[in-house]
Amino acid sequence: MSRPIPQYLPGKPLRFIDELQGDPIGMFMNMLEAHGDLCEVKVGHLQGLFVFEASAVERVLVGNYKNYKTKESRSYGPLQKFLGEGLVTSEGELHLSQRRMLQPAFHRDRIAGFFDTMLQHANQLVAQWRPASVSGDFVDVSERICEMTLAIIGETMFDADLRPDAARIASAVRAVASRFHWTSTTLLPLAELWPTEKNLEARRAKAFLDEQVDALIERRRQRPPGDDLLGLLLDANQAQQTSTSVMRDEVLSMVVAGHETTAVELGWILWLLSTHPEVLEQVEAELDAVLGDAPITLEKTRELPVLTRTLQEVLRLYPAVWALAREAEAADELCGFPIAAGSRVFFSPFAVHRNPKYWDNPEGFDPDRFLPERSVGRPKFAYFPFSGGQRKCIGDQFTMLELTTVLATVLRAYRFELKEGTEPVPSPNVTLPMRDPLPMRLIPR
Ligand code: HEM
Repeated sequence: MSRPIPQYLPGKPLRFIDELQGDPIGMFMNMLEAHGDLCEVKVGHLQGLFVFEASAVERVLVGNYKNYKTKESRSYGPLQKFLGEGLVTSEGELHLSQRRMLQPAFHRDRIAGFFDTMLQHANQLVAQWRPASVSGDFVDVSERICEMTLAIIGETMFDADLRPDAARIASAVRAVASRFHWTSTTLLPLAELWPTEKNLEARRAKAFLDEQVDALIERRRQRPPGDDLLGLLLDANQAQQTSTSVMRDEVLSMVVAGHETTAVELGWILWLLSTHPEVLEQVEAELDAVLGDAPITLEKTRELPVLTRTLQEVLRLYPAVWALAREAEAADELCGFPIAAGSRVFFSPFAVHRNPKYWDNPEGFDPDRFLPERSVGRPKFAYFPFSGGQRKCIGDQFTMLELTTVLATVLRAYRFELKEGTEPVPSPNVTLPMRDPLPMRLIPR
C-alpha cells in the first residue's frame, strides 16, 4: 500500500523559492533532515520529487532506468541548449549508438595510454608554480589547475594543444555554465532568453566555444585518422553514421564534461588536505614509501590505496556533479511512495553522500571509511559520484587516473598552505566549483 508523499514547506512557496535561489545545496540538506527518504515540492504548476534513499536512486538509474528520461526532463532543457545532442544530453537510441561509438576512446587500455600526457602536464604545473614557491607568495591554485585539465582533455581526446586558448576557453565554459543554475533551470525556464548582461556574456561565450570546436574539428581533419575521440567521431561522420551537428555537440560536451569536473575536484582535495594534516601525512608517507625519488609510473599509480581512499572521500563530500534529474515517463513507486507519470525526480549525490542513514559522522573528512571492512553493508547507491547504469560517467576511469597522477606529482613537490581566513564556499551550477579563488602558499618538500 503506497504512502502519501511528505510535502516540503507546504503553503510556503516563497520560502522554497528563496532557498532554491539562494542556497540550493542547503535546500537539499534541509529536505533530507526534515523528511529522510523522499519528499515533494509543489509550487503552482511546478512539481518536483527529491530522493535521498539509495534503493530509490538505484531504481531510477538502473532497475527501471527506461522509465526515467534525461532529455525530456525539463530540468536538463537549458543544458541541452548548450550541449545539444552530445552524449551528456542525448536520449534513447541516439544515446546508445553514441555511447557505443565513443566507448573505445575510454577503453581501459586507452586510458592507461593517457598516463604519460597526464604526467607531463602535472610536471608542467609543478614547474609553473615554482616561482611562487620560491617567493612564498600566495597563488590562486584553482586557475592553473583548470588550464591544466583543459590541456589534458585537449591532447587525450582531440589530439590538440588547447594551452594557448586554455584561459579563454575555461572562462567561456564558466560563463555559460553559470547560467544553468538551478534557479533558471527549474523555476524560470525562460530566464536565459532575457537580454541581461550575464545572458549576453553567456551567448558571446557560447559563440566563442562554437568557433573553437569548429577549429578543433578542422585541425583534426587535416591529420591522419586515429582512435582518439575526435578521430572516432570524424570516421563516423565520414561514414554518415553521425551528423556534423552531433559531432560538434559531442566535442563541446566532452570539453565541458572533461575538464571543469576534474579541476573542481582537485581544488576541493587540495583544500581538504591543507585543513586535515593527519590525512595529508598519511598520503605523503604513502607517496614517499611507494615512489621514493623514482619517477612516477602507471604501475605505481595503482599502488596508492591511501590516496585512492582520499579521492573517494573527496568525491563523497564534494561530488563535482552534485545533482541529477530525470523525468518519469510512466507511473512508478519509489521506496513505497507513488510516483505519478510526468513527475520530475531530483537526486543529489552531495546529499545522499551525507545521509546519516548510510554514513557515520557524514560531514567529517575520513578517507578510511572506504576501507573494505568499514564499507560492509553500505548500499551500492549510497555512493554514486559518477552516477550509474546506462548513463554512468564515461570518464570515470579517466578521472581517477588523472586525479591520482596529478596529485601524486604535485603532493610530492609541495605542501599546500591555505591563506589564513580562507573558507571555500561551494557555488553550485552544473558542477560544484568554489565561489572564490583558492589562495595557497606552496612550500617545497
Ligand atoms: C570528477 C570528475 C567527474 C565527475 C564527478 C563526473 C560525474 C558524472 C556524472 C554524475 C554523470 C552522469 C550524469 C547523469 O546521470 O545525468 C556524468 C556523465 C558524463 N561524464 Fe562525467 N564526471 C567527471 C569527469 C568526466 C570526464 C573527465 C569526462 C570525459 C573525459 C566525463 C564525461 C562524461 C560524459 C560524456 C557523460 C555523459 C555519459 C552518458 O550520459 O552516457 N566526465 N559524469
